[in-house]
Amino acid sequence: MRELMDEMDSSAEKQRTSHKNGISLSERAANIDDEVFKLALGLPKDVIPLTAGEPDFPTADFVNLAAKKAMDSNFTHYTASNGILPLREAISRKLKEDNNLSYDPDEIIVSPGSSPSIFLLLFALADRGDEVLIPDPAWFHYPILTGLAGAKAVRVPQRRDEGFRLAPEDIERKVTDRTRLMIINSPSNPTGHVLSREELEGVAGVAERHDLIVISDEIYEKILYDNHRHISMASISGMRDRTVTVNGLSKGYAMMGWRIGFTASNVELTGKMRSLLGYTLVCAGSVAQHAAIEALTSQKSKEYVKTMVATWTRRRKIVLRYVDEYKDVMRIAPPEGAFYGWIDISPSGMEGKQVSTGLLKEYKVGVMPGYLFGESGKDYIRISYATSDDFVEEGMKRLGKFLRAHKK
Ligand SMILES: Cc1ncc(COP(=O)(O)O)c(C=O)c1O
Repeated sequence: MRELMDEMDSSAEKQRTSHKNGISLSERAANIDDEVFKLALGLPKDVIPLTAGEPDFPTADFVNLAAKKAMDSNFTHYTASNGILPLREAISRKLKEDNNLSYDPDEIIVSPGSSPSIFLLLFALADRGDEVLIPDPAWFHYPILTGLAGAKAVRVPQRRDEGFRLAPEDIERKVTDRTRLMIINSPSNPTGHVLSREELEGVAGVAERHDLIVISDEIYEKILYDNHRHISMASISGMRDRTVTVNGLSKGYAMMGWRIGFTASNVELTGKMRSLLGYTLVCAGSVAQHAAIEALTSQKSKEYVKTMVATWTRRRKIVLRYVDEYKDVMRIAPPEGAFYGWIDISPSGMEGKQVSTGLLKEYKVGVMPGYLFGESGKDYIRISYATSDDFVEEGMKRLGKFLRAHKK
């Protein structure tokens, strides 16, 4: 903790120094909340890290091998800004097989990870002052990227007592004549909620009534528990033409650092996205694109994801067991997908921020304070169980002890 504080102090000092030297931040950049990155990347070595949002598995050997072959064949040049055709063809087949969606390779853009494509989409679709509906809670990138694109984030509450259901009447209430887009994410980071067909149809109804575009972030689609099924928004009747599907290989294929994401939409948007991506990010890494073809087309990937999900299923049980053991101080709606525990710590009488700070300081466990995911998250913390069985076991035990020790 001391090291962490020192590091933060020294980076604040550096900022002041650079300011003195004449480099001052734009208001836009100065307003960005840096806390997430301090938490995720700055944990001291002796802390149990339940913060990271990435699979603890390495990329599969057969994928690494495909990348080595690509390097040996000198596939190390720039590629087309929308990605190489064989990869877009593989994505087109994947969308058909996994998601029942028909997209030509021309309607697909490969990007260096899905995060930048969400930013470029917001940039391409929302004008200054347009409103973007974002569930509350939701992944903290969405409101930040919306603000950076010049639009306004408007949060839509999810019903915490109904397993974080997204109800059409709650969405409708937030629609104004400036509303242009809605972002959905299923399975959800942080709640683990999987949107049912009924909920998707509810969102679709609002989108059709108010002529909204839906950005559907499906990055956790392969990580599901207890027979929950993933349904793509674009497969809902009438939604293909008003949905942009966003996905990537970081979570389901353990390829976080390769930075491969993609979007599927109509040709007009795809053409503009190709230019935006070309001007900013240029293209996704050429070697990574070849690795991605192997990941998407090899039968071995199916086994790999099964192994990962079986492991996370086991750790999810550990989390649920501890929440039950300490039910006087915490509760949870069991995650239906992804690898996060969205834990309500309000029975302890504390708020998420107090818990994340105190737990780190006194018990050396790193968790994310829920308020980062939206106002409704102030009574929550998010833990990631994409770590090790031992870390989950020990981290949850310490969390329970900490909450009881400080119960108000
Ligand atoms: C909901 C959600 N979407 C997208 C991403 C980013 O994935 P990528 O690695 O493709 O940028 C994350 C990563 O944590 C996420 O939680």
